[in-house]
Amino acid sequence: MRVLEKKDEVRNLVARARVGGRKIGLVPTMGFFHEGHLELMRLCRSRCGLCLVSIFVNPTQFGPAEDFDRYPRDLERDRALAEAESVDLIFAPAVEEMYAPDSSTVVLENLVSRGLCGLGRPGHFQGVATVVAKLFNIVQPDMAFFGRKDLQQLAVIRRMVRDLDFPVRVEAAPIVREPDGLALSSRNVYLEPEQRARAPGLYRALYRGAGMFSGAKGDTSPLLNEIHREIESATGGRLEYLSAVDEEMEEVDDASDCRYLAAALHLGPVRLIDNVEVA
Ligand code: PAJ
Repeated sequence: MRVLEKKDEVRNLVARARVGGRKIGLVPTMGFFHEGHLELMRLCRSRCGLCLVSIFVNPTQFGPAEDFDRYPRDLERDRALAEAESVDLIFAPAVEEMYAPDSSTVVLENLVSRGLCGLGRPGHFQGVATVVAKLFNIVQPDMAFFGRKDLQQLAVIRRMVRDLDFPVRVEAAPIVREPDGLALSSRNVYLEPEQRARAPGLYRALYRGAGMFSGAKGDTSPLLNEIHREIESATGGRLEYLSAVDEEMEEVDDASDCRYLAAALHLGPVRLIDNVEVA
């Protein structure tokens, strides 16, 4: 497995693999791997001849008061975990390699990115779309792999690929959870033991809520209010949002139009997000 820091080195290596007829797969990440990331690598490995993982804590998707500086990083650990998954290449650029100091061009998706996390994290999805567009241009993958944990991010990327005609197939992987239901996240390491013990209450309430929504008709408010109360009392956290949305992340008024329940919860120092599909 190679670890490369320069865009040109990646371009050269990928070009050689493409001439050899291999399908190129990309798994974009910010590192500090957990089983959710490893599942994406396994999917990529099973589908592509060249499996490339990018590790880049992207400053442009963090707000000024967010955790860019203290986002967990451990390249040596990540390198060993990726190697064990038979990844061919890690691309781990420095910030200066990715962004010119006077960089002035962005990718702005204007619909799917507006609600949910877009409200509490202005500029976040612009940073995500921009860096993913750059990674697509550097690597030019045939396929790119994203997790359903970040459901709105996945929807924004799909839109961007469609609207800007990126020749990339976007593949989605299911959410990987701890045995108690908590969705894996690099930030979970910041939960105190007591917060960690209560955190699965988010998934449990969403799961139960999805059951309530399944087959339901009419106003979503009474159902959402009940789930809202359950999440906050079970976790001791504060909900940023709890939304019933359709495939395009648009909030729905009628329960029968709901495809997903999605939530962001502030629990101690951590902002947890999760979602459950309504069957
Ligand atoms: P990061 O948070 O490192 O996540 C990388 C990928 O892993 C994303 O596609 C995310 O949805 C997926 N993932 C994270 N936790 C998961 C879980 N529990 N189950 C399944 N998949 C999971 O998302 C980002 O990085 C960045 O925004 C990025 C796309 C790399 C752009 O900077």
